[in-house]
Amino acid sequence: MRTICLIPGDGVGQEVIPAAAQVLQTVLPGVQFVEAAAGWACFERHGAALPEATVAAVAAADGTLFGATQSPIGNLTPQPPSLTGKGEPNSPPLAGEGLGERSYRSPILALRKQFDLYANLRPVTRLLPDGRPVDLLIVRENTEGLYSGRERREGDTAIAERVITRRASERIARKAFEQARLRHANRSSEIRNPKSEIRNPKLTIIHKANVLKVTDGLFRESCLAVAADYPDVQVGEMLVDAAAMWLVKDPGRFDVIVTTNLFGDILSDLAAGLVGGLGVAPSANVGAGRVAVFEPVHGSAPDIAGRGIANPVGAILSAAMLLDHLGEGHAAPRVRGAVAATLAAGITTPDLGGTATTAQVTDAICQRLT
Ligand code: IPM
Ligand code: MN
Repeated sequence: MRTICLIPGDGVGQEVIPAAAQVLQTVLPGVQFVEAAAGWACFERHGAALPEATVAAVAAADGTLFGATQSPIGNLTPQPPSLTGKGEPNSPPLAGEGLGERSYRSPILALRKQFDLYANLRPVTRLLPDGRPVDLLIVRENTEGLYSGRERREGDTAIAERVITRRASERIARKAFEQARLRHANRSSEIRNPKSEIRNPKLTIIHKANVLKVTDGLFRESCLAVAADYPDVQVGEMLVDAAAMWLVKDPGRFDVIVTTNLFGDILSDLAAGLVGGLGVAPSANVGAGRVAVFEPVHGSAPDIAGRGIANPVGAILSAAMLLDHLGEGHAAPRVRGAVAATLAAGITTPDLGGTATTAQVTDAICQRLT
């Protein structure tokens, strides 16, 4: 019996996670769900954005589906009294935290840290043959870089520490090389037309070592050192600004990308924009162990929350990645096929130009799975 932890969170997370659960229920009838709270509403209600019970539920589950949560933006957002009413109004901010949000930390960042989910896998695939083919995977380092949490103010100067370690860089590189091999093996076995070309596995290291000589110098050096163990994978490197341009101009030149935390964050949204937007982009946060957290790349989208029109595809494709993680090797491609067939039939939410609701898209996908 499989137990999946569901953390809908805030905004459209409350709509897309039940949709993804409906799909999981359809392909894995015996699955058990445990629902847990996190996010802004949870923080306001219980004083914790990521309660201990939620952490325990994630630890106990065979996998977690995470929706989205709303976070205050630095100290620009006027803070409700619950955030500022805790301490003395004139006390300095705690190290590593913004002025108005001293006890709110993004739950997804906390989960990545807590369970050392060091790799963020973000596949970007064109689901419909309605444009240039796009089929790449961004492997984003998930634990350090500019997400180190080491930010501080010194008067009118603000400083962020960009932490890069050899250990984290080598392990993310290794994960990326393994993914390049895996994708190549899957391509080779899925190809039905013997004449069609099988792309060789390729990894592009994306950095900014011309400017960030020390930090990205170490990241680059670590990735290249690991490359020696993967002579079958073609290795290239690109500066992040050029990579942004080439992703738009010729996405076909990328297979697997490995990069640092913030660059991966930005490039994954850019790449999602190539294939229909954030509504269709899935991701997996994985580490060395059994615990893994799957989440659509999109956020809580408060502008459309509660209207029943959020695109469930990003969450459903994240559930497909969860199926892969569970070793349900047959179910995952079935889900991807049902999603593609549903979109091909024109059943899409408004972000993709359609008129269907979240529920209609989800039902249409589930119908193709029964
Ligand atoms: C993502 C999100 C998160 C991130 C936010 C919500 C903290 O943008 O998963 O890409 O920056 O990693
Ligand atoms: Mn992001």
